[in-house]
Amino acid sequence: MHNLLKGKRGIISGALDSNSIAWKVAQRCRQEGASIVLTNAPIAMRMGEIKKLAEETNAEIIPADATSVEDLTNLFTKSTEILNGKIDFVLHSIGMSPNVRKNVPYTDLNYDFFTKTLDVSALSFHKMLQVAMKLDAMNEWGSALALSYIAAQRCYPFYSDMAEAKATLESIARSFGYHYGKKRKVRVNTISQSPTKTTAGSGIKGFETFFNFAESISPLGNAPADDCANYCVMMFSDLTRMVTMQNLYHDGGYATTGVSMEAMEKFSS
Ligand code: NAI
Repeated sequence: MHNLLKGKRGIISGALDSNSIAWKVAQRCRQEGASIVLTNAPIAMRMGEIKKLAEETNAEIIPADATSVEDLTNLFTKSTEILNGKIDFVLHSIGMSPNVRKNVPYTDLNYDFFTKTLDVSALSFHKMLQVAMKLDAMNEWGSALALSYIAAQRCYPFYSDMAEAKATLESIARSFGYHYGKKRKVRVNTISQSPTKTTAGSGIKGFETFFNFAESISPLGNAPADDCANYCVMMFSDLTRMVTMQNLYHDGGYATTGVSMEAMEKFSS
């Protein structure tokens, strides 16, 4: 451990169970010396798993539906009280599409569901940032991060309306990053992560097959959740002070590989 986050205070959303990327980020942030508050949708609390993480990381849990400005206002206000100061880092690790959940075809989308997808998976990041800025709840050189996926740039047919959500999410990081940088020197970025075996990931149809495909394309293989947590720690640390408004690929080289020899062999006659 390197004490990279010594004395820093953070809010981590999205830890549902021990497979969640946010779960690993919380553990790593704690190991690096940060004090954290955990948050998730009130409905996710019912599973009770998050309490184990809270004990392990010595964190309080503040339930918040990330689509509710009221809940988020409570989250940031209480977090600064509990942690005894302004926030240095925030992780947005939230995604959900009712269309995907209910297997609705992309060319026959339910638009109420679509609106929900965008609200939960993308606008919630804007809401977090807007609330934090209005409350002046973040320290200068603070860092806000959201987790994204390459379907924001390229077509992945199975990813349905989550592709639009991720494109919006990354755009929010750029646009808000400008304003928050100017106003308070707060950094805003997204990390575009490899397919990862979590509740949200495995909910996508054909996930397992695609996981194996991506593994065969990426020179380093798919990036595991533990490594994603390390990358998040680095982005929260002072070592990346001047990085903002970026979408950063954490994918073992997948994004810039056209094809691998391994994948080619599968199609040779
Ligand atoms: P996960 O299922 O463990 O986490 C998703 C979280 O979103 C859950 O904790 C859930 O309770 C929370 N959530 C849903 N609706 C919410 C709401 N209204 N308010 C607050 N929280 C809410 O799965 P995972 O994979 O750890 O997902 C985290 C992030 O990583 C998501 O943004 C996902 O799209 C992204 N990601 C995941 C990849 C994967 O293959 N698993 C690949 C690239 C990005």
